[in-house]
Amino acid sequence: MWPDLIQKAKMGGLDVIQTYLFWDGHEPSVGKYYFEGRYDLVQFVKLIHQAGLYVHLRIGPYVCAEWNFGGLPVWLKFLPGIEFRTDNEPFKEAMQKFTTKIVDLMKSENLFASQGGPIILSQIENEYELMEWEIGGPGKAYMEWVSKMAVGLNTGVPWVMCKQENAPDPIINTCNGFYCENFNPNKDYKPKMFTENWTGWFTAFGGPTSYRPVEDLALSVARFIQNNGSFINYYMYHGGTNFGRTSSGLFVATSYDYDAPIDEYGLIREPKWSHLKYLHKAIKQAEPALVSSHPTISWPGKNLEVHVFQSKIACAAFLANYDSKYSSKITFWNKEYSLPPWSISILPDCKTEVFNTAKVTSPRIHAQMLPITDKSFSWESYVEQVASIDDPKTFTKEGLWDQVDITWDTSDYLWYMIDVSIQKNEAFLNNGKYPILTIMSTGHILHVFINGKLSGTKYGSLDNQRLMFNNSVHLVAGVNKISLLSVSVGLFTGGSHFERHNTGVLGPVTLNGLNEGTRDLTKWKWSYKLGLKGSALNLHTTIGSSSIEWTQGSYVQPNQPLTWYKTTFNAPAGKDPLAFDMSTMGKGEIWVNGQSIGRHWPGYIANGDCSSCNYATYYEKKCYTNCGQPSQRWYHVPRSWLKSTGNLLVIFEEWGGDPSGIHLVKRRL
Ligand code: GAL
Repeated sequence: MWPDLIQKAKMGGLDVIQTYLFWDGHEPSVGKYYFEGRYDLVQFVKLIHQAGLYVHLRIGPYVCAEWNFGGLPVWLKFLPGIEFRTDNEPFKEAMQKFTTKIVDLMKSENLFASQGGPIILSQIENEYELMEWEIGGPGKAYMEWVSKMAVGLNTGVPWVMCKQENAPDPIINTCNGFYCENFNPNKDYKPKMFTENWTGWFTAFGGPTSYRPVEDLALSVARFIQNNGSFINYYMYHGGTNFGRTSSGLFVATSYDYDAPIDEYGLIREPKWSHLKYLHKAIKQAEPALVSSHPTISWPGKNLEVHVFQSKIACAAFLANYDSKYSSKITFWNKEYSLPPWSISILPDCKTEVFNTAKVTSPRIHAQMLPITDKSFSWESYVEQVASIDDPKTFTKEGLWDQVDITWDTSDYLWYMIDVSIQKNEAFLNNGKYPILTIMSTGHILHVFINGKLSGTKYGSLDNQRLMFNNSVHLVAGVNKISLLSVSVGLFTGGSHFERHNTGVLGPVTLNGLNEGTRDLTKWKWSYKLGLKGSALNLHTTIGSSSIEWTQGSYVQPNQPLTWYKTTFNAPAGKDPLAFDMSTMGKGEIWVNGQSIGRHWPGYIANGDCSSCNYATYYEKKCYTNCGQPSQRWYHVPRSWLKSTGNLLVIFEEWGGDPSGIHLVKRRL
């Protein structure tokens, strides 16, 4: 997809492609680097260069980005004595090693502008300021160390730190947000830069879809420029898809569309893309005046503001109406201009209004998801076993352990198992008042099985990841098998000491209403089993999926929890981007030809207020769509991962769903 995305960015009037890079993807295990496929950073930077654009490389390597563990590899958490992002030797050593690796790689390919390449800027760390305030002395020491370390790498191009008020020279501190017009760098000889102008917001499972009206986005850009801004990056201009298990533990959806000017599928979003294109053109027309003069500012009326950039060679004016409700008129150089509410007009020659941020002339186009055929796939299924203590590959530990300490995040799934004996004389066996099982979990989803049968499911949310299971359970006299399947939905993205954040069933776990009263199981000996049997069998791959007997034809049951489904399909003709409509499914993961296209969770319905949205001033909880619908119904499958025929599609369904409703759809403008 890269060449096409880069061309669309160029046609949209961008000069620079800014990108994060992801340490966990590039160093999946200590010292083993990966720079292939969609992690081929050199290729990406070269393609941008070939297109005649520049690069801002945000190395981080902590990046946040709603990415699993904020981009840090999970093995880092297990280095002895480590504390993330502070004055801590093991962290500093690992971070320096990786940062140096990236810089050396870029240098070896002559990719920095100082070597004739396209990289004009690099970023170290990410929004560290807040952490620094929180942790005090060691935070300050780390910030100073990290700055020196980066500068010492001699890239020949400037480094930036975003949201880092005290970034030491020569590092340039930059701004992130919805608006940055009032931001100023910490020295007047540093350029004023806006590294993240949020074009919308990310979607979480359980949440609605955010959109930021382009009128407001354009105003934020124009206002930044008229206030001496020199560089703006849209975050995101294209956000794409969090394939695999890369999205973070904020319940972040697989789609990272972000309401960006180029949508998740690589299609332009209208009118956003075109309106911004006209804005970029207007700003570039004004550039000779902007770079050769300081503005004269006047206030011709309430909520009105005029910036005039006039030099010997050029003149440009920005006329603004900041009233959020009323339009207004401004007379400038004997000519009257009408300004809609909350808008800025750009006059690149001080005489002609070529653009107004709120006068959107490009048509609104709704992309459609068109079914390719209404014939359903022919499915085969395999029911995942509910794990129990007697299975092979289980192991025991005293008490309840953190999930990631056991899985190292190699899987979303961890079984916690225990056998509970019930005496024949338990009163509930006669009076039918079954005991209550109470389980406290730090997240994110919990399925409770009693004697192999699903007894209930609980899940957290973006705002509250902790959960409590508190149900009566059908126990019988003798030994009862309790199996808890704890499911993580990505790991936390950041915050202080996030290396110590917990996931999974940490208790207490109690059984209430027995003759003895309450039985506390928290400190008992628990058995554990990592991951799913189907994953151990590699059912998502061609070889693995042919290693077992699948149930076929009419025996394939819908609405069964913990079930694997597989089918094959041919790639539809044409170039339209493709997706699976998963609306009849619950929660799980999807693989195509062995590649995970991400977690699906259409069973999580978007909760929110989708009432009308006024474009004047935006914040992330303001303008929503999709309330009452699945937070994410469609799952992007890139055409580049498909063969023309015989593509293997494998789905693991955790909750139970009806695969006969799954369809391949194409996205069209
Ligand atoms: C910023 C952060 C980005 C991303 C964004 C929200 O604060 O730097 O990485 O997380 O918030 O989408």
